[in-house]
Amino acid sequence: MKEVVLGIDVGTSAVKVIAVTKYGEVLKSVHAPVKTMNFINGYSEQNPDDWFEGACDCIKQLIHSKELTHYQVTGLSLSGQMHSLVILDDEYKPIRNAILWNDTRSTFQCNLIKKKLGDYVLDNPVLEGFTLTKLLWIKENEPNHWLNTEVFLLPKDYVRFKLTDKLNMEYSDASSTLLLDNQQKCWAKEVGRQFGIDHIYPNLVNSDDFVGYVTEHVAQELGLNNLVAVFAGGGDNACGALGSGVIADNQTLCSIGTSGVVLSCESDKNADYQQNMHYFNHVVTDMSYVMGVTLAAGDSLRWLKNNILPHLNYDQIISKAKSAPLGSNGLLFTPYLSGERTPHGDASIRGSFIGLKTSHNRNDIARSVIEGITFSLYESINYLRHMGKTITSVTSIGGGAQSDFWLQLQADIFNTKIKKLKHEEGPCMGAAMLAALGLGWYEHVADITKHFIKYEYVFEPDSKRHKQYMAYFELYQAVYQQTQSITAQLLKISDVD
Ligand code: XUL
Repeated sequence: MKEVVLGIDVGTSAVKVIAVTKYGEVLKSVHAPVKTMNFINGYSEQNPDDWFEGACDCIKQLIHSKELTHYQVTGLSLSGQMHSLVILDDEYKPIRNAILWNDTRSTFQCNLIKKKLGDYVLDNPVLEGFTLTKLLWIKENEPNHWLNTEVFLLPKDYVRFKLTDKLNMEYSDASSTLLLDNQQKCWAKEVGRQFGIDHIYPNLVNSDDFVGYVTEHVAQELGLNNLVAVFAGGGDNACGALGSGVIADNQTLCSIGTSGVVLSCESDKNADYQQNMHYFNHVVTDMSYVMGVTLAAGDSLRWLKNNILPHLNYDQIISKAKSAPLGSNGLLFTPYLSGERTPHGDASIRGSFIGLKTSHNRNDIARSVIEGITFSLYESINYLRHMGKTITSVTSIGGGAQSDFWLQLQADIFNTKIKKLKHEEGPCMGAAMLAALGLGWYEHVADITKHFIKYEYVFEPDSKRHKQYMAYFELYQAVYQQTQSITAQLLKISDVD
């Protein structure tokens, strides 16, 4: 039997699993949708066991598929949504639903942290998305849950625990909690102590560390009849970067999933990218990355599809957008549906269409949503450039990379080359590569990327269109200041978004 590894991604909209050969060929990819619960405005929760069940369903489908007939799974690794908080009791069972990265209930706790420690903690801005603020929300609002908390984890750590019975967190994800000392690679317990957090830290490991084998009873349940080595994995954006070959200084990724991120590698430990950019550990040894985040990127398109254009699928929406002219006939959209991280760090801002007129049609609306999401990501590109990063080409992945129209739009707005991958599997590929490295199939990250990453096409920016977009971008940037207090007041006087 030939060997394959699995890459598992615990995403926000779905759990996805791929099977990859030694030569980087993806034999098959399957996914299982995951339900998100938004009980109250600003809340976003998922049941951690849904992730594990979703992962198991996918693994079963894969290993029983005809594509894997002559293969056996010998290793796996995981990537997952960053920051989302899972708390376990002393029997290592989830105490409550996970509170997700895009949940914005913890503004009060953010203010508390800022008051004590300032606006930046451990190289990062204090934002509702980050795990520390969620822990403090539980401590304050659910004291019984807090008292019962034995350990906290992030999503893929919980799934890995269920597969192996081994409790760990690895550095790339841990650096997104506001509780890790990124330089020393250890828990910043003095930060936790200031807020009464002491004993709940999991053990830390490296991304390609072997953590254990799939346990016998899980292996039996899945139908795996040999030992499967499990390697730690990484946060989804770090794994997305590795899986796209974004591994060295200044190499830049744009990923449009539920959120949208622009991420650029940074090896200088003293680099200062404050001002709402995030600064986290990569899954690549001794590498970090600077990142800006749009909270509702693909999520804005999902909103458009579900609530405004329910009879159209995503391809049809994109082709409508294509039919509208650059600038959407004078319609601007800001994607602040769940608040915004970069550059505003504001959980109470909400989105808007500006300039709506009777002649606007669905084509204009569809295009303005896509332009607005891309303008938001351009704010991060701009910020990185302003801080001295050289960005001349960006590898684009996720939903935004599925259409050549949107890729060209990114090239024109960002004013960079946009590289499209031949086989794009997002964070799953990075997770599979970590398993392949862990198994010793390749010695160095650079070797494996040479074999696994192939580009299909490079989209060149058009300077004339860039200039035209910049006239709209200037107005887009003005929308935040001019709508901030209106949308914050609207939130206050209404219970629903
Ligand atoms: C990054 C972030 C999101 C999640 C999505 O800071 O919050 O991109 O990782 O899964």
